[in-house]
Amino acid sequence: MERTLSIIKPDGVAKGLTGEVIRRFESDNIKIAAIKMIHMTKVQAQGFYDVHKERPFFDSLTDFMSSGPAVVMVLEAENVIAKNRELMGATNYKEAAEGTIRKDFATDIEKNVVHGSDSPETAASEISYFFNQLEIISL
Ligand code: CMP
Repeated sequence: MERTLSIIKPDGVAKGLTGEVIRRFESDNIKIAAIKMIHMTKVQAQGFYDVHKERPFFDSLTDFMSSGPAVVMVLEAENVIAKNRELMGATNYKEAAEGTIRKDFATDIEKNVVHGSDSPETAASEISYFFNQLEIISL
């Protein structure tokens, strides 16, 4: 079993897509091992996206991620990192495959509805950024 961090970003929550995104995960046999709604501060968003701090979009991205509530989840399944990335589609919704979350709902390369960890190492550090061990259910 593998775990990954998923975020329904502020645009996804504001558009009422929380249920639809979770439905897609559960339909694909992905289990939710932890879930909570948060409203990040700018500093918390900067910490989460620290790897992108030199990128030109860093300031705008962290403004956006701290602009409203988001839903953070620990997802669990076999190969869930790849599975989740397949369900999300490409970062740029214009390049995302048909039927993916970003193709169906994103309107912007930044406001792209969801985030998912991209490797086992990133998943471990991203999960621990938001959740402690007591908050993660052993499924
Ligand atoms: P995410 O998968 O959360 O990882 C970094 C985020 O930066 C990305 O989704 C987008 O929300 C945002 N972003 C904004 N502009 C770009 C860009 N040009 N390339 C990649 N990511 C971008």
